[in-house]
Order: sequence, then structure tokens, then C-alpha cells
Amino acid sequence: DEVIRQDLGRLYDIPLYKCFVAGWPQVEAFQARHDDLLIATYPKSGTTWLSEILDAIYHDGDLEKCRRDAIYNRVPFLELTVPGMLSGVEQLEKTPSPRLVKTHLPVHLLPASFQEKKCKVIYMARNAKDVVVSFYYFHQMAKIHPDPGTLSEFLQAFMDGKASIPTPAVPQDPRREVQKILQFLGKEVAEETVARILHYTSFQEMKKNPTANYETMPTELMDHSLSPFMRKGVSGDWTNHFTVAQNERFDQHYQQQMAGSDLCFQMEA
Ligand code: PPS
Repeated sequence: DEVIRQDLGRLYDIPLYKCFVAGWPQVEAFQARHDDLLIATYPKSGTTWLSEILDAIYHDGDLEKCRRDAIYNRVPFLELTVPGMLSGVEQLEKTPSPRLVKTHLPVHLLPASFQEKKCKVIYMARNAKDVVVSFYYFHQMAKIHPDPGTLSEFLQAFMDGKASIPTPAVPQDPRREVQKILQFLGKEVAEETVARILHYTSFQEMKKNPTANYETMPTELMDHSLSPFMRKGVSGDWTNHFTVAQNERFDQHYQQQMAGSDLCFQMEA
């Protein structure tokens, strides 16, 4: 239990962590179904983008069906437990198969049933430097997170493990990534449908789509006037935020943390 507490504590900030610990027994006992697909990411790594692409694939590019509800209802967030809202588990129990499930949990905290049912998992990662910048702005607008302070303070907290472990890589070519996903799912989709999905899930389209951009969340939870959820949607925005010294410290920290990991890609400058 202490390990779970510590790991959840590292992954989520204090207020969120307290909620999530309270809901943990329900998450641990979650019953995965064999045709569940798990979308696993570190926060701010493109979860919503990937979720929208997968929902569109699941509905053969029928965009009207994709607009049936907000993304956070179409792809429930497994470990989400916030007082006054349906928990992720409760939402998932009401969702017909095949379900798409969002999680930020590291693999050792996943409910055992995902492995028992041999569920497919797509893990998406993003340049850790862009993740920090995106997460910083998200802390400003998502009221469940504490005030992040200055970027410099937030960066230090991130590297101290108070906002968890950075992840690498970047999908630069959405078409190639969608083809990879289709192959992984064993699904064939007409080229014209792929083009439609790519357009629908482009940053510009998602930014103005109320079922994708989180604007339907109550303002007490997310205040888009402080920073929109669909903020910039680019790689490399960290170069507008990091000082040379911060970048050097980050690189050093990253090399230490990722030593020996297969996931350790060279991050673009
Ligand atoms: S969360 O809260 O963890 O679910 O956030 P997540 O969806 O993982 O990450 C949000 C960032 O992803 C960007 N985003 C996109 N970028 C490019 N194209 C598309 N379609 C897209 N959709 C979302 C979003 O803008 C956030 O990144 P930043 O850098 O803050 O703009």
C-alpha cells in the first residue's frame, strides 16, 4: 500500500493524489474486458489526440458519431476519482464494448485484469521538455492541480520527481502513426477515411471542436481563459521557455533517469 501511495504521489500532485488514493480500491478491482484498448500516456503527451484518432477509427471515420459526446466521456479516464463526478471506473462500467480506456498509470500500477485479459495497449510518449511546458500551463488552468508557481520552480519540482518521470519521443508524421495503429488493431480502412480522420484530428480542428477541446468541462475544474487545453499543439515549444542552464540541467537529469532504458531516444534540439 505504501508503494502505491508513493507511486501515485509521484505521478499526481497532492490534491489529486488524495482523491485518487481514496478511489484506489475501485481502480485496483477494475474488470477489464478482452476487447478493451488501453491508451497509456504520461500526462500532456497527446492522450486526447490519440483518443480522438482511435474513436474515429472505431467508428470507421463517421465523424457525426465521434461528436456524440465529449472526449472525456467517450474515452473514460480509468483512475479519475473526483468528488461529485462519476469516477472513471463507474463510467467505464456503463460503456459498451469495445471500450477505449485512458490511463496515466505506470505499468506496475495497472489493474491486473488488463494483463489477465491480454488487452491491447498503445503507449504514447512525447519529448519530455514539451511535456513539462504543457503540464505547466495545464496546472494553471486545471483547478484540481495546485498553483505551479514559476516555470523555473515547476521545472525543478518535475525533475525532483514531484511531478513524475519524463518520457521521450514525438509523432512527427501522423499519417504513418495512424497506419501503424491500424496495423496493430488488425483493421483495414479506406485511404479516403484515413484522410478524413487525419483532418478531423488535426490540432486546428480539435481546438475548435467542443467535443474534443475540453471546453465543456465546468470552469471550476478547467479555466480555459488562463490557458486553453488545446494550447499550441507543437513540438519544440520548450525552446521558448527553457534557459540554456535549465536545458543543460534537464539533459543531465534525463540521461540519469533514462540510463539503460530502451525508451531513451535522442530528443530533438
Ligand atoms: S491530458 O490532460 O494528459 O489528457 O493531456 P494530453 O491530451 O495528453 O496533452 C495535451 C497536449 O496535446 C496537444 N494536442 C495536440 N497537439 C497536436 N495535434 C493535436 N490534434 C492535438 N490535440 C492535443 C495539446 O495542445 C497539449 O499540448 P500543448 O503543448 O500544451 O499545446
